[in-house]
Amino acid sequence: MKETTVTAQPQPAGLEGVVVAESEISFVDGAAGRLVYRGYSIEELASGSTFEETSKLLLDGELPTRAELQMFERALVSERAIDEQTLAAIRGYPADVDPMSALRTGVSALGMVDPDRDDDGPEATRRKAIRLIAKLPTLVAAFERSRGGNPPIAPRADLGHAANFLYMLTGEEPDPDDARVMDVCLILHAEHGMNASTFAARVTAATLSDIHSAVTSAAGTLKGPLHGGANEGVMKMLLEIDARGVAPADRVREMLRAGKKVMGFGHRVYKTMDPRAPILRGFSKDLGERTDPRWYRMSEEVLAAMKMEKGIDPNVDFFSASTYYALGIPADLFTPIFAIARVSGWVTHVEAQYAKNRLIRPRARYVGKRDLRYISIVDRG
Ligand SMILES: CC(C)(COP(=O)(O)OP(=O)(O)OC[C@H]1O[C@@H](n2cnc3c(N)ncnc32)[C@H](O)[C@@H]1OP(=O)(O)O)[C@@H](O)C(=O)NCCC(=O)NCCS
Repeated sequence: MKETTVTAQPQPAGLEGVVVAESEISFVDGAAGRLVYRGYSIEELASGSTFEETSKLLLDGELPTRAELQMFERALVSERAIDEQTLAAIRGYPADVDPMSALRTGVSALGMVDPDRDDDGPEATRRKAIRLIAKLPTLVAAFERSRGGNPPIAPRADLGHAANFLYMLTGEEPDPDDARVMDVCLILHAEHGMNASTFAARVTAATLSDIHSAVTSAAGTLKGPLHGGANEGVMKMLLEIDARGVAPADRVREMLRAGKKVMGFGHRVYKTMDPRAPILRGFSKDLGERTDPRWYRMSEEVLAAMKMEKGIDPNVDFFSASTYYALGIPADLFTPIFAIARVSGWVTHVEAQYAKNRLIRPRARYVGKRDLRYISIVDRG
């Protein structure tokens, strides 16, 4: 190939606005503030669907019949447990390690013991996709139990995906309202177009590497504070405001003056309110009224200050922080919960990539030095 493009202008920083694939999976309408999975608005899914049904919708492109959904739910339930070898490895992880590192490592480890490890055909990939969706909550709960010095709690077949996750964290059957809040949170986080972690998954899949490798890449990408890590950052900020006894608006101004980003605000695609934020705002308010109203109230004050100072709207991470905290979940599990949800989107994109694959291999514009003469180490002194 001729080297004519070497000096071509680079794409916008961070590939902003660059379209890298055609997709039928979800539509993120940044101008109108709309999110659609397979043609269905996020509001409709949040009010009527379950995470299991939404995952099946994402994977198949159509809402399942009752019988199809029951079969899918049974498949997920039967794949929830984690093998002894992987559980033993989790017990060996440092107790003070960040849970997203534990999740990333756990996903990779699951790939080594998967019965379809050496088969990357479409049927085997779908079986592995279902296992990943089923096992991620068990992985996160097992690490949470292990770092607290407690044995893992086996999944319960009679509980839905969200309720079972909450149950495996504590051993107590969750309040049905709390379980429904978690279920909707999982629906809201399940898929979001060509976000950074999904793109990472697709880049890995496009080399024809296996689905566990692709999801491991995605998990490592989600971990960053500019992506999934932002929800934990929001809670840290709220806890700090509370501990210091400062006014939330003053803390926001202080951060902005110091040139810091306020976590949970801004978005690459949405130029208006992220449509998931109002749903989470409602949960944060209701749960706050039932438990401790501090975090919701503080969140509203931070939001008002951000609106006044920068005119920037909250994203999905902002009210998910106070929602999860009110459910009694520790702040450093917020991003792993994001992964428990987003894995449905990741595996759907991996299947789509395999179905119509071409290696993803962009170029860099070289702006470095040229034509230097090598000087031997003897002469360099
Ligand atoms: C999401 C995010 C990474 C998008 O980044 P981006 O598209 O590259 O946008 P930029 O970081 O270039 O931001 C554009 C402008 O808005 C400002 N801005 C964006 N998000 C901000 C935030 N959370 N706090 C303060 N200022 C923010 C930037 O400082 C910049 O201002 P400037 O033009 O005066 O320099 C960015 O908004 C951010 O870092 N948010 C906080 C992390 C977060 O919540 N991530 C979760 C995303 S779902």
